Amino acid sequence: MKNQMTKRTGLLAALAFAPVVALSACDTMAPGGADAGGGASAGAGWVYPSLGRERPLVIGHRGASGDVPEHTLETYQRALNDGADCIEPDLVMTKDNVLVARHDLYLSTTTNVASKPEFANRKRKTDDAAYEGRNDWWVEDFTLAEIKSLRAVQPFPGRTKVFDGLYQIPTFDEVLMLAKSRLTVASKPVCVYPEAKAPAHHARLGKPDMGDAILAALARHGMAAKGSPVFIQAFEPDFVKAMNAKTELPVVMLIGDQASYNSIMARPDAPFWDGLGPNIGLLFGADGKSSGVVEASHAKGIPVHPWTFRDDQPVNGEAIEVTIKRYLALGIDGFFTDFPITGYRVRNEVTFAP
Ligand code: G3P
Ligand code: CA
Repeated sequence: MKNQMTKRTGLLAALAFAPVVALSACDTMAPGGADAGGGASAGAGWVYPSLGRERPLVIGHRGASGDVPEHTLETYQRALNDGADCIEPDLVMTKDNVLVARHDLYLSTTTNVASKPEFANRKRKTDDAAYEGRNDWWVEDFTLAEIKSLRAVQPFPGRTKVFDGLYQIPTFDEVLMLAKSRLTVASKPVCVYPEAKAPAHHARLGKPDMGDAILAALARHGMAAKGSPVFIQAFEPDFVKAMNAKTELPVVMLIGDQASYNSIMARPDAPFWDGLGPNIGLLFGADGKSSGVVEASHAKGIPVHPWTFRDDQPVNGEAIEVTIKRYLALGIDGFFTDFPITGYRVRNEVTFAP
């Protein structure tokens, strides 16, 4: 493994939202203590025990996907307008090997493909066991030109559909061009948080390595060098480990459930990641107390970015503001939300609390 601590230091410096203060000094600032209320004072840093007392990142999950159809340039723009520090493109590869922003390998739920007669005969069952014979339209069967003829729709019930049918699917290059073309509302460079979706599936298809393709795109836009505002993420441990050996950019290990967490932590080569991206359900025990995941990761100097906070999917009936603040108090270093306008507001309420 390469110089992990150097990688982490680089990303913290690049993404700092409050003056970076020495950990030794921060350690004297107990949450809720005398200095905690001074989170708004110069140099005090964040009130809760995030790494380096950095203000946690608001990560626009699939953009501002609660309000505008996911993975479109328009939803990423909305996320940035709403206060996101990072935008999150999930990435899959077209038939002609172009990285495009989609959460799923299939198209029926997030686009109008089913209404396009020219693609009616393109629907088929997959032989990928992970999708259990799903009968659908698959990104891997469409060229970029064909993908561009589709329009995005809102897949989540209960969310507005007024933008359905309006916006195209962007390439990763287009997402990076957008990111470089503007700043966050805090006048910082836009952080891009790409996720390689199903890299093993793409490899089985004989496609170019997704990690290499992601790094090549980042390099084309001057965002591949150490210190660039980029996190690369994936669920597949082998992919994460391989990426970590290829880049000085931080690579984040996504964890969906307790079994996956236990399994990966038991590996002798762990940790081979620079950041941890756990499901929010992993951070608290049934007793409502910390599960210890954040503390264990922080003990290794590894930031934690849980997912996903959704205004319209309350946790245990709790108001979303209460939920997010509970996680912030745990010391998370960033968080994914479908509603960055809420995440931004809640994070700032904490920052500037009297
Ligand atoms: O990447 C963090 C989170 O997005 C993982 O879940 O399925 O929404 O990509 P998913
Ligand atoms: Ca994702």
